Amino acid sequence: MELKSLDHFFYPQSIAIVGASDDPSKAGYQIMSNLLNLGFAGPIYPINPHKTEVLGRTCYPDLRSVPGAVELLVISVPAFEVPGILRQAAERGDVRAAVIIASGFSETKIPERVELEKEVVAIAKKAGIRIMGPNCVGVMNTDNHLDTTFAPSIKQVPGGMSVISQSGALGAAIMMFAGDQPVPMGFAKWAHVGNQSDVNVLEILRYYGQDPSTKVIAMYMEGLDDGRTFLEVAREVARQKPIIILKVGRSEVGSGAAASHTGSLAGSDQVYEAAFAQVGILRAANIEELLDTAKALAMQPLPKGNKMMVLTEAGGPGIIAVDELGLSPYVEMADLRPETKEKLKSLLPPMALVDHAHGYVDMSAAANERHHAEALACVLDDPDVDGVVLLSVPPTFLKPRLLAEEIIKVRKQKPDKPVVVCLLGGEFVREARQLLEEAGIPTYDVPDRAARALARMVQRAYYLQRATEQREEREKRVVESKCPEIDKSLQDRRSLLEPEAQKLLATFDIPVVRSIWVKTLEEGLVAAEQLGYPVVLKIVSSDILHKTDAGGVKINIRNAEEFKSAYNDILTSTGRYNPKARIEGMLVCAQASPGLEVIVGAKRDPQFGPVVMFGLGGIFVEIFKDVAFRVAPVTMEEAKEMIQEIKGYPLLKGARGRKSLDVEGLAKVIVNVSRLMLSYPQIAEIDLNPVVVYEKDVLALDTRIILALPV
Ligand code: COA
Repeated sequence: MELKSLDHFFYPQSIAIVGASDDPSKAGYQIMSNLLNLGFAGPIYPINPHKTEVLGRTCYPDLRSVPGAVELLVISVPAFEVPGILRQAAERGDVRAAVIIASGFSETKIPERVELEKEVVAIAKKAGIRIMGPNCVGVMNTDNHLDTTFAPSIKQVPGGMSVISQSGALGAAIMMFAGDQPVPMGFAKWAHVGNQSDVNVLEILRYYGQDPSTKVIAMYMEGLDDGRTFLEVAREVARQKPIIILKVGRSEVGSGAAASHTGSLAGSDQVYEAAFAQVGILRAANIEELLDTAKALAMQPLPKGNKMMVLTEAGGPGIIAVDELGLSPYVEMADLRPETKEKLKSLLPPMALVDHAHGYVDMSAAANERHHAEALACVLDDPDVDGVVLLSVPPTFLKPRLLAEEIIKVRKQKPDKPVVVCLLGGEFVREARQLLEEAGIPTYDVPDRAARALARMVQRAYYLQRATEQREEREKRVVESKCPEIDKSLQDRRSLLEPEAQKLLATFDIPVVRSIWVKTLEEGLVAAEQLGYPVVLKIVSSDILHKTDAGGVKINIRNAEEFKSAYNDILTSTGRYNPKARIEGMLVCAQASPGLEVIVGAKRDPQFGPVVMFGLGGIFVEIFKDVAFRVAPVTMEEAKEMIQEIKGYPLLKGARGRKSLDVEGLAKVIVNVSRLMLSYPQIAEIDLNPVVVYEKDVLALDTRIILALPV
């Protein structure tokens, strides 16, 4: 659908409100009153058969009677009335868009209500009318003082943030909270799309992406139906503008039904988290963080590097800010150049702490307005500083207004690096904060919020740089491979036999341990000789998924004698474990030498499709859940990020005298598992556990591939 058609919602020349009322308890009253109070400039036509006037405006009994053109309809009457109203709109021929406030449609899941929504959509589609809702509150736009919602007190302060909300009430609450800040936070556009029968979240996202008034997109999200399409759109939009999402559902939802390790580890929220990061979406933990981040990104230039610094007039707040910056994996504290330090020492009061710690200068409580300004100018001039948190708790001898003016002067002369300010002092500093914000400098109540907003800017800059680097790699897309030998097994099984899984993995360049599939003890003895003792012996049966539990694995078999007894032991214990199991032979494997054990896996997520997982093996994965996820396709860079992301990374990197291991080879395994998942939709889960990582090699020792049940 042409994005321009959304202009009919956001920039209508005229509006008719069906169900307009002068009864303050009605939604139709509030909508009328919002539009009138805000001063929407175009004609507003109230429609209500029982009234001749509503809030001082001539009221019309129906749509047919409206004398002028109607571009946007806001329908605030009960659900069953809606089709009739849309038919009237279709007859008129000039209505281009309709916001349907009424609930009682498909969201109820009642068949006749679902049908009612379909009827509404069909009428609108035939008439070329775009629908927002039903079960929504529509849009706001500060450019033209538009508000179709029935929220009572949303201040329209213009700003660079545009909002999409999956909850009308929470979306309105976000705006009320923004308006209630010590310095009210502005916005550009706002939308709540309700049932998304026509206009959906993706379209709004793309619309904001090309909207000149929107600098930052903030979203409240409850869930997604089609995560992959969302990610595609978000990736494109996030290249142009920051997207920050407050997504609920952080508590882990275990997937108990999953048949493999990987499946049970991938709680859906972790996948959301990884998917967002992958396409460059910043995730906010709460409303404050959503707004704090949006404010910084809407007002300030992005940092060119990640070296941040805290310039403070008081120790405590300064330490809180440094602490917060230190929590971000994207930030490094700036190491000031010697000449900057010298200059700071000469211009600040003698008790100032300049050499105390990297990225930290305490100007001391003796610093006056001029000290603040000169020190700010000085650190901004340092090429090794990419951004600054300026903190002050103005004492009574320091005039907050004058302080703000001095800071603004410096900012005007040096506009290239981000500066966020925290003036602590409530009412005493309110006017100063107002001045700063009017001059485009974001201010915060407390130091950690300021520091966190700056850290998010660094993260955004990192995403942008990475997006450019990875674009080419991603555009090459996945090269699909096929392994015809196992195609039949993929059709009629619940899982692949391990030798089949190994063959498939080898087709995708995933190194698997040398193995020979045997059907008899005699064949086994020959195979063991061929591979060389010691060997490992494993049962091959599609009825035995958890081989170790069934006594179906023997390791460290050193000679033919041991081989024979291992072979017979396995047959006995697996027979006891599952007497009906079909035994398809045994797998004789070379016994791998010890190395670092990791796990690489994949599963199909209900929202995002194929998702790849990586973590350290054994106890790390069992107890600490030290794992990283990405949505496939995974690029080499992303695979390396996954590896670096886990807490156990130092073990791979080579910590404390250990040699560094084959991270490149491991990243290739992750990338190839992602290719395999994309090439074979029949595969539900893959579990390579363990994969052993050596200095110059990687080897998958145990492999499990679970197939999706045919639909
Ligand atoms: N054309 C024009 N006006 C009509 C009409 C029609 N076909 N049918 C009724 N009206 C008038 C009514 O007479 C009434 O006017 P009055 O106040 O002067 O008596 C007004 O329109 C509203 O109709 P009413 O039947 O009183 O409905 P309501 O205001 O109580 O409720 C909704 C309407 C849409 C708000 C309600 O049905 C609803 O769905 N509420 C939930 C909305 C919601 O939660 N949306 C999602 C938000 S996230």
